[in-house]
Amino acid sequence: MKLRAIKNRYSPTMTPDKELQDLREALKASPDNAYIRRLLINKLRGVPGHETELEREINLLMKREPHDLDLKQALIEVYHKQGKNSACLIIYEELGHPELLNPETRVIIARCYLKDGDHQQAGLLYRSALEDNILLADEELDQVFRQASIYEAEDPDQAFDEATEDDRLLSKPNMNFDDVGGMETVKREIDLKIIQPLQHADLYRSYGKKVGGGILLYGPPGCGKTFIARATAGQINANFISVGLNDILDMWVGNSEKQLASYFDLAREKKPCVLFFDEVDALGAKRSDMKQSAGRNVINQFLAELDGISSNNDGLLIIGATNVPWHLDTAFRRPGRFDRIIFVPPPDAAGREAILKLKVADKPQENIDFAKVAKRTKDFSGADLNAVIDIAVEGILEEAIKTGVPRPITTKDLLRGAEKHRPSTSEWFTTAKNYAMFANKGGLYDDILKYLK
Ligand SMILES: Nc1ncnc2c1ncn2[C@@H]1O[C@H](COP(=O)(O)OP(=O)(O)OP(=O)(O)O)[C@@H](O)[C@H]1O
Ligand SMILES: [Mg+2]
Repeated sequence: MKLRAIKNRYSPTMTPDKELQDLREALKASPDNAYIRRLLINKLRGVPGHETELEREINLLMKREPHDLDLKQALIEVYHKQGKNSACLIIYEELGHPELLNPETRVIIARCYLKDGDHQQAGLLYRSALEDNILLADEELDQVFRQASIYEAEDPDQAFDEATEDDRLLSKPNMNFDDVGGMETVKREIDLKIIQPLQHADLYRSYGKKVGGGILLYGPPGCGKTFIARATAGQINANFISVGLNDILDMWVGNSEKQLASYFDLAREKKPCVLFFDEVDALGAKRSDMKQSAGRNVINQFLAELDGISSNNDGLLIIGATNVPWHLDTAFRRPGRFDRIIFVPPPDAAGREAILKLKVADKPQENIDFAKVAKRTKDFSGADLNAVIDIAVEGILEEAIKTGVPRPITTKDLLRGAEKHRPSTSEWFTTAKNYAMFANKGGLYDDILKYLK
């Protein structure tokens, strides 16, 4: 049978059984056709109950293509379904590049290691899978790792580890709003929502207003969310605790309640304090998106901590940042939680000019026309502007090594840097635009639409 004929018969209205039958027949007619065999394998993967056949087909194709990673993944999947644990582990351990395995398969291997009694390997794999796809969080695995870390907590060395852990999280930033170029709207919002209440705490309290609370910063990468969170702490001379993606993943890999509570406790202890959750979406993926209810525990506890149900959050400022606000559970946005949601757009021309000036300030320079460079760097994020300066400096250094004479940075160098670097924000807007147009509940993303006009 001709390939085209198979493809044409392959219509969406066909039942899976009929499709399978057609593919089997086609394969019988041309048993060496790898393409058809692969079609059959992919089809079989989607229909439960054909494990033995699937295993046989994969093994046949693997004889021809022994290094095909996708086939190995398929084989791990089918072995796992049949409870052939050691077979899965053998494939995994013989992989040349285990890091290329897709996150779904890594979770399978984590389970196999768990059955094998190797909790450490299991934990590492589970963790790396979540790093790539938080939606793979799984109640059973989460539970196991939680118990494992409770067990570790009885270790006498743990007290020492916790002290250094606090030091790692906690800092007193020596920067403030002056170090942040542009972002005037964001600065004003933060001032109104967070700084003023804290500085006039008694006045606010006398009207029954809470001092503190949460804001959520969202926007394209590299536009200063993390940067301004840190500057906010510096601006009011507060402590800064940054909980990053890795800390959040640690929570997923067990012990979540205890860890989450400890971040909030530490912050309350160090008041006034800015408690910053970077990439907070990892914590608050929509509960409906969660594969199982494991995520619910973490989210619910996070919400309870935000609400300050069992403790006093006065003087505690909570900032969350995310690139993917649409993945956040709506419960995050209720009053008293992240009730102010602030869009952090790429800097406008004035903002870019300010950022460039700040970043070049401590470098040798000559009559730079910052406005001109700002004009030529539309859509560039703060991080992109850093890159432009890096490129300019590298060019000068290269030259200086050849000529032996260093020279200052000029407008031309920066313009050349701008030409060589592609702005990184457009991709984000492509996605964001869809959400803003089709999932703009309550005008949540009006700011994005306004920006795009
Ligand atoms: N307004 C700004 N003023 C000065 N520097 C800035 C500004 N915005 C961004 N930068 C520079 O760009 C770098 C990246 O910014 P930052 O890490 O805050 O971006 P982000 O919005 O948190 O990105 P992501 O979403 O990828 O986490 C900063 O370290 C800083 O050097
Ligand atoms: Mg960031």
